[in-house]
Amino acid sequence: MSTPSQPDPRVDQPAMTDETLLSVHEKMLGQQPDEKARYRLLPLNLLFLFSGLIFFGGTYLGRYAGHFSPKIFNENAHPPKAGEAAAAAPAVDPLVLGKSVYATVCATCHQPTGLGLPPAFPPLAGSEWVAGSEDRMIRIVLHGLLGPVKVKGVEFNGAMPPAGPGSGFNLSAEKVAAVLTYVRHEYGNGASAVTAAKVAEVRSATGNHAPWTAAELEKVP
Ligand code: HEC
Repeated sequence: MSTPSQPDPRVDQPAMTDETLLSVHEKMLGQQPDEKARYRLLPLNLLFLFSGLIFFGGTYLGRYAGHFSPKIFNENAHPPKAGEAAAAAPAVDPLVLGKSVYATVCATCHQPTGLGLPPAFPPLAGSEWVAGSEDRMIRIVLHGLLGPVKVKGVEFNGAMPPAGPGSGFNLSAEKVAAVLTYVRHEYGNGASAVTAAKVAEVRSATGNHAPWTAAELEKVP
């Protein structure tokens, strides 16, 4: 029998030194999959390429996008400067503009056919109000119409909301003129065109008038 002078390595583990501790951990860590190893720094060339592309894109848009104005169709054209705005603005056909304004604003009530929806909404087709004084018609669209009104011999008594500048529809003078020109031209009406200048003139004379009554309008020439 040997004397237990030597410690039995199966029972008494010798105390670990710092070095063995470190090397054991190193080995364990080394066995774990290294997730980060798959990521690599972006090559500098690519970084420069992308920066260059972004810079080019920004410059290109700034130069050719025409300030994203819907009126710019020519990608090489520059937006007009303040002084030359009128000359450079493309002419809009009032009948085309008027048709789209009619479809978005008036057609809900007066119907796409212009025949209205009696007894609530009077017709515009063949209406003496449409064919008659443009001064009255401009007022109707700018400020609205309220109370009894006779159209083609039929009495209506409703309320038309204002559609001019500052109203819920907020139509510009140009759009009011266009939609009136359209309505007076369509549905076999055949009355004269209305200019934006005339609408602006009526607007500055009447301001934010309350909705008109037919009786008030009869006094307007
Ligand atoms: C919310 C419904 C509504 C909308 C939108 C509307 N109207 Fe009217 N409109 C009426 C009503 C209702 C009357 C009759 C008011 C009354 O009885 O006093 C009328 C009357 C008129 C008249 C005079 C009577 C006639 O039939 O000729 C004209 C002209 C007219 N509207 C044009 C327009 C135009 C142009 C637009 C679009 C810019 C428009 N209206 C949008 C409801 C509407």
